[in-house]
Amino acid sequence: MDKLVIAGGKRLAGEITISGAKNAALPILCAGLLTADTLDLSNVPLLHDVSTMLRLLRQMGLQADQNGERVMLNGGAIDTLEAPYDMVKTMRASILVLGPLLARFGEAKVSLPGGCAIGSRPVDQHIKGLEALGAKISIEGGYIYAKCKKLKGTRVVTDMITVTGTENLLMAATLAEGETILENAAREPEVTDLANLLIKMGAKIEGIGTDRLVIQGVERLHGAAHSVIADRIETGTFLCAVAATGGDIILKNTRSDILDAAMDKLRDIGVILTTGPDWIRAQMSARPKAVNFRTTEYPGFPTDMQAQFMAVNCIANGTSQVTETIFENRFMHVQEMNRLGAAISIEGNTAFIKGVEQLRGAPVMATDLRASASLVIAALAAQGSTTIERIYHLDRGYDQMEVKLSKVGADIVRVK
Ligand code: EPU
Repeated sequence: MDKLVIAGGKRLAGEITISGAKNAALPILCAGLLTADTLDLSNVPLLHDVSTMLRLLRQMGLQADQNGERVMLNGGAIDTLEAPYDMVKTMRASILVLGPLLARFGEAKVSLPGGCAIGSRPVDQHIKGLEALGAKISIEGGYIYAKCKKLKGTRVVTDMITVTGTENLLMAATLAEGETILENAAREPEVTDLANLLIKMGAKIEGIGTDRLVIQGVERLHGAAHSVIADRIETGTFLCAVAATGGDIILKNTRSDILDAAMDKLRDIGVILTTGPDWIRAQMSARPKAVNFRTTEYPGFPTDMQAQFMAVNCIANGTSQVTETIFENRFMHVQEMNRLGAAISIEGNTAFIKGVEQLRGAPVMATDLRASASLVIAALAAQGSTTIERIYHLDRGYDQMEVKLSKVGADIVRVK
């Protein structure tokens, strides 16, 4: 298994190009199931999760040609309406095939995702919404069996805000009969990006970007071309890296307007940020200042940035409190950061961090995607050498992170 070896203490300077967003690309690839025509997708990030999704879609009969960051999909010959356990267990986002399959073919068999490293993550709201749209759903042998003649529009109020739940129901509603209203919808930019693609495919959706999506079902959707939105979490991760190491970096092919809450915290930390329409420059020359925050749904502070900001707080001047409200077990990085010399304690869903002058390199283990990214940041700022094991987690969601960081001066190598 690959490892990363990082010699900390290098200032970062230079340019990094940001990839397309993983969490937009995954639902967008599933939208290929909604039409018999061709989707021409660009800025699709080269990630393990994208490869896994393409493998799943191909075994359903979807034709998928990947050429770098361009992917052509054709759903004219779908013949298997099933997502097997072997695939769903490696990637929970596989559940995103459920809504499209049901809406277009009236049938789907999708493995129930199990628990995962960051929480139990049930899919009851996906099921509740599809049942409200008229699907008959049963769960047998760990599989969701869903059937319907034709989905029928209705008003769905989810018990909580769910990102992939909103995306599944939105895709299903595009081909349902009549009007569907999704209340308490997720407003994440990745949901908006999916909705924008669906509109190009002929869907009728109002309220995009709000918590109330109103969808008028159409008979069929057609082909379209779409460029995936920039990855705000990859962007934020590199901004945290420079906050921790000091330096001057420019991030290209990204957007600052979908990262407000994190950018405000970076300014409080002491990072000087300047922005243009598709770039962000971050300059940092002092020791970071500690910041308190609490994760919430968009446009609040993203849970997917919690671990990376915690890495900065570890070496900041002052003490801080970080509260995780979205997932019940998203502090797996804390023990590993403490191995690097951090002073973090946890009470319930709040971490208390006492900033230390200096972290020191040590062997650590990555436990999930964003935890891995936070360990990279801590290691870049630490004195001495850190080895991070199990970086397959990182490869799921970051396109060649070590290559991008090397280009801006980090001493980071992948050891096979
Ligand atoms: N929830 C339920 N029932 C449901 C759905 C969600 O109880 O049917 C709960 C979850 O257990 C969680 C909360 O609602 O406590 C929010 O979960 P949500 O459904 O919004 O998460 P998700 O759709 O499974 C997506 C991202 C995650 C990101 C979260 C929150 C994708 C593919 N994944 O997950 O990304 O953390 O939204 O913003 O879009 C990551 O990229 O590292 C990652 C984990």
